[in-house]
Amino acid sequence: MEHKVYLNGEYLPLSKARVSVLDRGFLFGDGVYEVIPAYHGKLFRLEAHLQRLENSLSNIRLGLSYSVEKWREILLPLVDETKDQYIYLQITRGVAPKRDHAFPTSAVPTVFAMCSDIQYFEGREVGVKAVTMDDNRWEMCHVKATTLLANILLRQQAIEQGCAEAILVKNGYVTEGAASNLFVVIDGELMTPAKSADILPGITRDVIIELAQANDIKVNENVISLEALQAADEIWVTSSTREIIPVVELDGQPVADGHPGPLWRKINELFQQYKQSVS
Ligand code: PDD
Repeated sequence: MEHKVYLNGEYLPLSKARVSVLDRGFLFGDGVYEVIPAYHGKLFRLEAHLQRLENSLSNIRLGLSYSVEKWREILLPLVDETKDQYIYLQITRGVAPKRDHAFPTSAVPTVFAMCSDIQYFEGREVGVKAVTMDDNRWEMCHVKATTLLANILLRQQAIEQGCAEAILVKNGYVTEGAASNLFVVIDGELMTPAKSADILPGITRDVIIELAQANDIKVNENVISLEALQAADEIWVTSSTREIIPVVELDGQPVADGHPGPLWRKINELFQQYKQSVS
């Protein structure tokens, strides 16, 4: 059976979903999105994802405000209770009468959601290679904007160098991955860059911090220099779809002994248990 998607109040097969070429999402990337895991039909950290969505919408001055209950009602019919999936939810500023950079006076936002199976990411257990790159994105990285050209070019360059992720560096300090947040372990201490407009406030990041603190593992939310990254005992990249991925090679050099580290093992186990407990 073909996948059902949600578009502007309707549920329809993916191949029947149509958006106008005048939609500002298509013309300008004028929209925001969320990626929300759905483990066996349970929407993971829905409130946190919706809070971030609300922040993204208000940052781009897009007026759309649905309650958590309304979102749940819209999204739940898309998920399959027998699988681990994720919802992609996108809101754009809608269809304008003509292409004009300025906001249209009366556009109705386009609301689109679809659900896909989470593909198991092979690098999860053995670790991945990553490469550092200059963070050439804009000044509003805390907004989950659909305008992802810089991110996709960075990720593609990493892939072409045989790596799974680009780790981004701004003014000598590490920010995050092209589509992930970053954690390092230095002298037994877990560190991650503090929330700011330089990074997306990841939901996976929040869960990891909570799990660490609940298990007496201190987390230092602070700046991480490129030199500190290069000398780290462990490096992880984290996201909703790939979860917690150990980086075992950085810029062609092994990270510590070139294998996933003990703290990754511990936190990954806690994360998997936590996921099971809420699904
Ligand atoms: N991206 N930073 C960036 C730039 C991201 O694109 C993502 C996730 C994250 C991690 O956020 P979270 O833990 O909430 O998934 C950090 C999603 C998965 C994507 O664009 O597909």
